[in-house]
Amino acid sequence: MSKILVTGGAGFIGSHTLIELQQAGHEVVVVDNLSNSSPVSLQRVAAITGREVELCEVDIRDREGLEKVMSRHTFDACIHFAGLKAVGESVEKPWEYYENNIGGTLTLLDVLRHHNCKNIIFSSSATVYGDPIEIPITENCPKGQCTNPYGWTKSMLEQILMDMQKADNEWNVVLLRYFNPIGAHPSGTMGESPNGIPNNLMPYVTQVAIGKRAELGVFGNDYDTPDGTGVRDYIHVVDLARGHVAALKAIDRKCGLAIYNLGTGHGYSVLDVVKAFEKVNGVAVPYSIKPRRPGDIATCYSNPAKAERELGWKAEYGIEEMCRDSWNWQKKNPDGYEK
Ligand code: NAD
Ligand code: UFG
Repeated sequence: MSKILVTGGAGFIGSHTLIELQQAGHEVVVVDNLSNSSPVSLQRVAAITGREVELCEVDIRDREGLEKVMSRHTFDACIHFAGLKAVGESVEKPWEYYENNIGGTLTLLDVLRHHNCKNIIFSSSATVYGDPIEIPITENCPKGQCTNPYGWTKSMLEQILMDMQKADNEWNVVLLRYFNPIGAHPSGTMGESPNGIPNNLMPYVTQVAIGKRAELGVFGNDYDTPDGTGVRDYIHVVDLARGHVAALKAIDRKCGLAIYNLGTGHGYSVLDVVKAFEKVNGVAVPYSIKPRRPGDIATCYSNPAKAERELGWKAEYGIEEMCRDSWNWQKKNPDGYEK
């Protein structure tokens, strides 16, 4: 059993990870400024696991606030989810993204090391591969050019963490490169709750299916892919959450630096997702073809073999469960956590 500091734990991936951590016997404390989440998610976690979650409403840029948390607890490791993640917004507000994600992480790392907690699992992203030079993507694929400031914050933070680990080998750093997390907890009580118009495919699909939006815009059908639409490696958020519990094994083994892709290894096109969603849920998702979205790439899917080999972790859910659980959450919580 370990005691884990979970930054950004009230958010989509963080809250699902809390469940898996608690169910695996770990103790959790959440630091979140609630800038993109609701504390209700933590009540839902407690309803599922039967254990309360301590929420410290603190911003990771607030050194004093973090110090207070660290002086009350001794943590074995930190799982660091906190950050801003809207690609389009990051293009409009680059300073805010660099300040929050990089500034915040630098402060967090400094406080962690002063309290001798030098074990960290970091939420990175497949976006660091840019337009990948190999498909499926292994962890050896060189990093590429990001197309937006959000992506650069992930790429730069990876570098910062690698440099710190190199300079001080007491650090154990696990970089988890997520592919495309979708789905929701099978209970239907937890899921993604985006503000405003969703940027990502699955929340848009569910909002069309429930009638909140007229139709899905499919961004381009002239890519070099089987049906011309973009291909991605969608991963169920519960599988992704379990990947973090597995990553604690690398920390236990004193891995130094370890990098893992968390994906399924399967690529689905936008139209594959629409068809799977319609079939599994028996609802229509009207769509029309729109121009390509700037910055998008044709194809991105993982080779997840390293995580299976070294962590014993493998995604278990397929696209049908992802579509079923996303829809179940949307139907039961049409306005997310707030209503
Ligand atoms: P989310 O927005 O639901 O969760 C992020 C959480 O961090 C939120 O609860 C937010 O309130 C909190 N937060 C933001 N800035 C903070 C700050 N300065 N101090 C304290 N808390 C702060 O996002 P998510 O989808 O759960 O993503 C979690 C992490 O995974 C993020 O770092 C994200 O960049 C990364 N990631 C997400 C995806 C994806 O598609 N969802 C893909 C790859 C990587
Ligand atoms: N798409 C549409 N219509 C929409 C939304 C998306 O056709 O309304 C298409 C996109 O063009 C793309 C696919 O659906 O082909 C997936 O798009 P998402 O926006 O859901 O996801 P991305 O692959 O663009 O990016 C996501 C996160 C990034 C993260 C990346 C890799 O938004 O933060 O996955 O993990 F870096």
